[in-house]
Amino acid sequence: MERLPGFRDFYPEPLPTPDVWSADARTYLFDTWRATARRYGFREYDGPPLESLELFTAKSGAEIVGQLYNFTDKGERAVALRPEMTPTLARMIAAHERNYKKPIKWFAIPQLFRYERQQKGRLREHFQLNCDLLGETDPAADAEIVALLIDCLRGLRLTSEDFVIRLSSRNAWQEFFQRGTRNAERGTGEYEFYQVIDKLEREDAAVSEQKLQALGFSLVQVKDFIAAAKPTEELQNILDNLAARGLADFVKIDYNVIRGLAYYTGPVFEAFDKKGEFRAIAGGGRYDNLVKLVSGGKVNLPALGFGMGDVVLLELLKVRGLLPKFDGGVEVVVVVEDETLRADSLKLVQQLRESGAVVEYSLTPAKPDKQFKRALELKAAFTAKLERSTGGALAVKFKNLQTREETVLAFAALTRQTVCGLLAK
Ligand code: HAM
Repeated sequence: MERLPGFRDFYPEPLPTPDVWSADARTYLFDTWRATARRYGFREYDGPPLESLELFTAKSGAEIVGQLYNFTDKGERAVALRPEMTPTLARMIAAHERNYKKPIKWFAIPQLFRYERQQKGRLREHFQLNCDLLGETDPAADAEIVALLIDCLRGLRLTSEDFVIRLSSRNAWQEFFQRGTRNAERGTGEYEFYQVIDKLEREDAAVSEQKLQALGFSLVQVKDFIAAAKPTEELQNILDNLAARGLADFVKIDYNVIRGLAYYTGPVFEAFDKKGEFRAIAGGGRYDNLVKLVSGGKVNLPALGFGMGDVVLLELLKVRGLLPKFDGGVEVVVVVEDETLRADSLKLVQQLRESGAVVEYSLTPAKPDKQFKRALELKAAFTAKLERSTGGALAVKFKNLQTREETVLAFAALTRQTVCGLLAK
């Protein structure tokens, strides 16, 4: 039986083959994401992986709807695996926002499913850190979200040499669009226009030109606007806020970014590796109307946030050599040399574990040199074994496997403090 295309198996390291993913690297990523989001005061939430199809069809836009994993369940409901988290968040917020003080700052690490054409950096499932802030219209909120995105990447030891946030604004493009269509019918073709801009860097110039002409614009006009990269007042505000934190090097104005999803309303941004070898690392922006749309007009809360996938990021960290070496993290191997001491050894194992140490031992009788060899294979810091003195008292002999130094302690006197002191915890 083989796994489905575009799906992944995660194994503990060392990896058996190059086509599987590291469960250890994934944990490292999630731990860093969680710790950073918490430092910014974000609280963790989650929702169901399966939602009613309607939640996505009306809200996310054509591109993502074409990639849905959807089916009719046994109760004749039209359902879909979540392709993104934002509509679920909007639904959850709309139901219970009154229980929470504003601004609401939440994060989640959902697994998402998109039936995409498989390519580098794009699979049919991925994990995505989502950080969102609701209930604040001031650009200070946009700056806070961008700063959090930057720090999530810095936490993984990436620097301003490695990545950049391309900051843009749907408001800037909306103004551009409305100026250009002053004499034409207002509003028509706006979303189509955004779609052309979104594909500008990937599509053939002649095709873009043709599509723009049909909407009453020229490619030169659009390219000039992008090249000028003049920040709007709102974007300048965000830049100044980030500069005050010493994060100016991580952002630049880039109107090539407009975002594919339908619900964005204001500032939008994407994170890219600086060498341009990979697809977007993260993307997000303001979506001030989504909660209203999802709640059928009942709740109106401005919102913004970003999503950062694990696929591109893990590929990037691997190529840049920034992933730590992973092993089981075993600290002590308890060696049972004398089987008459197995019950006492189990007591020692238990006591060490209760003190917070990562402990291994042989479940069944084995030759002492085999147990010792296993300790070396596991890269344990210490071995510990019980010895009975002539007087009958039990002593624990710890051996530091690096320095070979031995420490003997009376078993009866072993405390959490002595264990922690020994392991320098
Ligand atoms: P998105 O741009 O569709 O935004 O996805 C965000 C990130 O998820 C991408 O930059 C990429 O790293 C990763 N990603 C997306 N699709 C795939 C895929 N098929 N395989 C691997 N990685 C992928 C959203 O989903 C928005 N809901 C984000 C958001 C949150 N906006 C506001 N709040």
